[in-house]
Amino acid sequence: MSLSLLRLVLPLVAMASAPVKLIIDTDIGGGGCKDVDDVAAVCIAHALVDNEEAELLAIVQDTSPPQCAGVISVLNHYYDHDEVAIGAYKGTDLLPSEPLDFVPHLVNHWPSPIKNASQVPDAVEVYRRALASSPDHSVVISSIGLLMNLAALLRSPPDAVSPLSGRALLATKVKLLAIMGGKYPSSGPRPYCNFNLAPGEGPQSDRKAAAAAAGYVAANMPPQVQTIWVGIEVGIQVESGARLTSCAPASNPCRQAYIDYGGPDKDRFSWDPLTTLLAVRGVEAVGSAVCTGCDGVNAVDGDTGSNNWVGGAATNQSYIVLLNATAAGDALDDLLCQVPKHLRA
Ligand SMILES: *[C@@H]1O[C@H](CO)[C@@H](O)[C@H](O)[C@H]1NC(C)=O
Ligand SMILES: *[C@@H]1O[C@H](CO)[C@@H](O)[C@H](O)[C@H]1NC(C)=O
Ligand SMILES: *[C@@H]1O[C@H](CO)[C@@H](O)[C@H](O)[C@H]1NC(C)=O
Repeated sequence: MSLSLLRLVLPLVAMASAPVKLIIDTDIGGGGCKDVDDVAAVCIAHALVDNEEAELLAIVQDTSPPQCAGVISVLNHYYDHDEVAIGAYKGTDLLPSEPLDFVPHLVNHWPSPIKNASQVPDAVEVYRRALASSPDHSVVISSIGLLMNLAALLRSPPDAVSPLSGRALLATKVKLLAIMGGKYPSSGPRPYCNFNLAPGEGPQSDRKAAAAAAGYVAANMPPQVQTIWVGIEVGIQVESGARLTSCAPASNPCRQAYIDYGGPDKDRFSWDPLTTLLAVRGVEAVGSAVCTGCDGVNAVDGDTGSNNWVGGAATNQSYIVLLNATAAGDALDDLLCQVPKHLRA
């Protein structure tokens, strides 16, 4: 079969297959790498659910502001997907912090069953339930925030939910782990989100906690887990979100978050939606490819959060390179502008 014919046929095959089971781990609007692009990630995931391309098992918050769980619930509710489980980081390593303005705006003015993190279980419990109830090698995880929850999941022992440790659950149940964080092939001495907080953000204790979690995840993820690292250098070349101002109604909370963050008709970089879309549709769908001739592993310094690609034998880890920023941005905007299924005439 010719390559061009393959390109035509493969998306059809993908659409005919079962929806991809997806978990999103997000710092949506809160914490030391806070941004609005997590909103796009969650909204496109809901559009993918409407398309029957994805099944959203859970969305977990990995930072401290309690209302971030409420924003997740607002977005779930707007798409009529209240059944999606929500969890929140409940550890003690991150100090209380203030979210971005869109967080209270959405939670206080849009309907949602959940208003804050006190109403949802610990993210580790939500992860464990979602993984334990899924077939082997069926779940994709889009990690688009701090690695607090994944580190805690890796450390979790067998419990009433599952006789497997968190590490064994990850090794057994996960098909793909896409992690937005760091820079590739190397960050140099300075760390990048989400392996530490953004420069000048947050207290020193949060910085230490974020770096320690990232270092722990990189060093302890079972080698069976296919892992794709998505660096800052990829998402910063891809713009999305401006179209929401004109394509979506004022009642759309994704649109409002983008307007609150940057103003009307303003794009934002696309680290998080890009990572989430590739987790479901694959790297080619976001105008990207897996770096070739780049076998090796990602080493993350648990003291600083700086990272370095260590070349060597082939592993189940890779990082992506961007080929076409326009194609990536268009794919995201098309999904952001897709009318929620339950609101279609
Ligand atoms: C969380 O939301 C519930 C329900 O709206 C409310 O009773 C509670 O005071 C809120 N807690 C915080 C910390 O905001
Ligand atoms: C990659 O993962 C597969 C199972 O998914 C495993 O059999 C293989 O040993 C792993 N490769 C390495 C280098 O660990
Ligand atoms: C990049 O993608 C856009 C939109 O899909 C397409 O029109 C364009 O031809 C592509 N550019 C290259 C260099 O492939």
